[in-house]
Amino acid sequence: MMKVNELSAGISVSKGVFYNPKMQPLRSISVAFVKANARKGARLLDATSATGVRGIRYALEAGIKEPVLIDMNNDAYANSVGNVKANGVKADVREKSFQEFANTNDERFDIIDIDPFGSPAPLIYDAFKISKDGTLLMVTATDTAVLHGAHANACIKIYGSVPMHTELCKEAGARILLAFIARNAAQFNFGIEPLMCISDMHYLRLFMRVSHGASKALASVKELGILRQCGSCRYFEYEQGICAPDVKCAKCGSRMLIAGQMWLKGLSDRKQVEDTLKAVKKMDDPAAEKQMSMIAGELDIPFFYSVPKMTKAFSIGSVSHRKVMERLHGDGYRISETQFWKDSVKTDAGYDEVARAVRQ
Ligand SMILES: C[S@@+](CC[C@H](N)C(=O)[O-])C[C@H]1O[C@@H](n2cnc3c(N)ncnc32)[C@H](O)[C@@H]1O
Ligand SMILES: [Zn+2]
Repeated sequence: MMKVNELSAGISVSKGVFYNPKMQPLRSISVAFVKANARKGARLLDATSATGVRGIRYALEAGIKEPVLIDMNNDAYANSVGNVKANGVKADVREKSFQEFANTNDERFDIIDIDPFGSPAPLIYDAFKISKDGTLLMVTATDTAVLHGAHANACIKIYGSVPMHTELCKEAGARILLAFIARNAAQFNFGIEPLMCISDMHYLRLFMRVSHGASKALASVKELGILRQCGSCRYFEYEQGICAPDVKCAKCGSRMLIAGQMWLKGLSDRKQVEDTLKAVKKMDDPAAEKQMSMIAGELDIPFFYSVPKMTKAFSIGSVSHRKVMERLHGDGYRISETQFWKDSVKTDAGYDEVARAVRQ
């Protein structure tokens, strides 16, 4: 039995039960997000509790009363029960699979946290059986090799979308998971609204609000579409719809790579990001604050330009992406770096302006 302290919680980790100390900042961001959003009496489900650390922190730091913690693993269940008791928290801990819980429980939750091993796909459909209008849904995926296109066939099989295996892979992966969630939600007449997106190391974490109504559901799935990127000059374009006509690059005539369907609208909500950042700053977790500040500084514009990929395509010497950003900023465009790829620029400038800035 290993003992760890994670902000408010003192946790014992039983043999064979999952606990990753490197995920502490992400847990802190989740706690801050819940704290910024939870109304009095909000009902929270920690659907994959392992040691129970999340559920316990939601109770101790975000004011959640009697969270429900479930895990289908017997050791994890026993570990959660022990930790809940040791931390003086009141919680409803159950040994159950999420699917069984969602199919046998009548209660609909205000907040649902899904953090399984690998792909969350097998849990998503059932999540909407216990969702209601306004439910906040947090989902982690660690099968990023699949979503990022290292295993294209697995992505097609599991998520029903073609991945993009270029510098746009991580952002495309986040949007593919959102498309998968939107399609599942729509079957229950729910629409989704992304509130925050975090992509780091081997994981992807999405925060969203679910809203009820046939028109909301339809509006969400109508946001889905395809992404094309030129494997040569890096030009990209995206369009709504299911059909993906094979067209040549408008800039250089090369063959375009095609990926999708994926979510093409916003990945975040400014107020949510700012409120969560504010809440993180009140915690004693510098790593979480650093990560959340980076997220808050990112423009919510689909996709970006990798400066090294462009200089390579133009056969010119290397250029600092900061210089390119300065130039675009000087020309009056909005610019930011991106969590999805290093040395890259998100901007509202078009391809031609970016290409000119890189060449200059
Ligand atoms: C990555 S760990 C969760 C870690 C925890 N959320 C944390 O932050 O430390 C995944 C846990 O989910 C449980 N799990 C996986 N699939 C599940 C399912 N379908 N229903 C319930 N629990 C599940 C596993 O037994 C494991 O304990
Ligand atoms: Zn091209």
